[in-house]
Amino acid sequence: MTPSFTRCDRTEAWATLRGHYEAHGREFDLRDAFARDPQRAAALGVEAPEVFADLSKNLVDTATLHFLVDLATECGLEGRRDAMLAGQPINATEGRAVLHTALRAPRGQGLFSDEVHGVLDAMLAYVETVRDTAASGIRDVVNIGIGGSDLGPQMAVPALDAFVHPKLNFHFVSNVDGHDIVPVLRRLDPAKTLFIIASKTFTTQETMANAHAARAWFVANGGTDTAKHFVATTTNVKAAAEFGITTTFGFWDWVGGRYSLWSAIGLPIALAIGADHFRALLAGAHTMDRHFATVPLKQNLPALLGLIDVWYRNFHGFTSRSVAPYHQGLKRLPAYLQQLEMESNGKRVDQDGEPLPYGTSPVVWGEPGTNGQHAYFQMLHQGTDTIPVEFIAVKRPTHTLADLHTKLLANCLAQSQALMLGKPTEQALVEKAPTASRELDTQTVARHRTFPGNRPSTTLVLDQLTPRSLGALIALYEHRVFTSGALWGINSFDQWGVELGKALCNDLLPRLAGGDTTGLDGSTAGLLTRLRG
Ligand code: F6P
Repeated sequence: MTPSFTRCDRTEAWATLRGHYEAHGREFDLRDAFARDPQRAAALGVEAPEVFADLSKNLVDTATLHFLVDLATECGLEGRRDAMLAGQPINATEGRAVLHTALRAPRGQGLFSDEVHGVLDAMLAYVETVRDTAASGIRDVVNIGIGGSDLGPQMAVPALDAFVHPKLNFHFVSNVDGHDIVPVLRRLDPAKTLFIIASKTFTTQETMANAHAARAWFVANGGTDTAKHFVATTTNVKAAAEFGITTTFGFWDWVGGRYSLWSAIGLPIALAIGADHFRALLAGAHTMDRHFATVPLKQNLPALLGLIDVWYRNFHGFTSRSVAPYHQGLKRLPAYLQQLEMESNGKRVDQDGEPLPYGTSPVVWGEPGTNGQHAYFQMLHQGTDTIPVEFIAVKRPTHTLADLHTKLLANCLAQSQALMLGKPTEQALVEKAPTASRELDTQTVARHRTFPGNRPSTTLVLDQLTPRSLGALIALYEHRVFTSGALWGINSFDQWGVELGKALCNDLLPRLAGGDTTGLDGSTAGLLTRLRG
């Protein structure tokens, strides 16, 4: 039994929010809001495990949040959350439970605890044998996987660089484009390399093609002992065995691909940071799970973030959100979040298959600060679209270059300040503009140098980027995506949208080889002919 749900647009709170938006939301001005309420920053600062969030630079007031919480209550968010945590098959289109939270529950406390901790113990014991590099001889670890079997480890390993084994190098191969694997293999010694074939299904075209290429390279370059140099992380243990892999760490169909870094798919992370730190990553995520499960919605950070996402998407009409982690280690976080949010909530029908009359997943994109400032921040400040920005600031670095870190933090604060405050034309008029053309009159120059301001942002603050805080941060994002998906009444846990391209690719493969364009549309036929031979 999946829990009953009420779609957001069929609630009283939705109508109330519509009225509130027309009366107060459309013209809401952050600068006025701060001037009116000196306590605004304190009132809209939310403490969650390992993460503090300053929500005060968002286009909300206490009434907005109150109505959004009403909306969540009417939609049955808490019941849906509890159903997920209880292992009900909330992924109704696939008839599956959604239990990534069970993967990080302490021993004896979560569902399937014996199975989860059995695999975890075995995997972490194996990890320590590989990390004993003098004995194992391993120097390079190559994770071959794509989507959820790649993006989590690829994000977490550099994020936790300060904790990574100094003698191990990590490589991530995902693309079926040979330009991905070839440069990696070129630099490797088979005797010192461990390949992880990571695939929930063990059928994904890209991963299987790269796995075969890796094994062929291994054999051709004198590699022996395939059993030692290839391991698999999969729910399809049988297929891994058929591939010839004898060391396999399994997981279960109730772990979605994009929610799987906590399972055996996290093997590269565990190899990088070791057993104790991997357990700390899980423990950090569990603290956020408890927060999401128990804290009232008005102080529940994942819920509040998800509610503000709905406010922006469906009332303000914002179509994207930019993520700016001011920590270079989080350079792959935006890509990770793209799958998490857009594969989960990029849906156009509700749970009953009815077309939705409102927008769902925003486009999620970004780059680490300060790099983004020198690329697309121009558009965030002065473009015609309003794009909420999410800043992630880390108080304490793991390096000793204090001067650089101070500059980094000053940049982070300055950007959210600039987005909000803007610069009126009157101010631009009285400022010197030494690089402006002298051919132009001062009014024209001032108009170009005007910033509208009132552009919203959230700043998330971590004390330090550790396995524990990273675990909490990622779990925060997972539950935030759950929240908006629950309100939109969609299934956030399937991904039918990837099927059609896969099927058409299988049709085109033999056509590319043989040249048959019968029945193809004119464009595809023309391109296929041009690309052949
Ligand atoms: O892109 C679709 C998808 O199914 C993702 O959801 C998943 O993370 C990815 O492919 C990889 O799948 P697998 O782990 O089965 O190889």
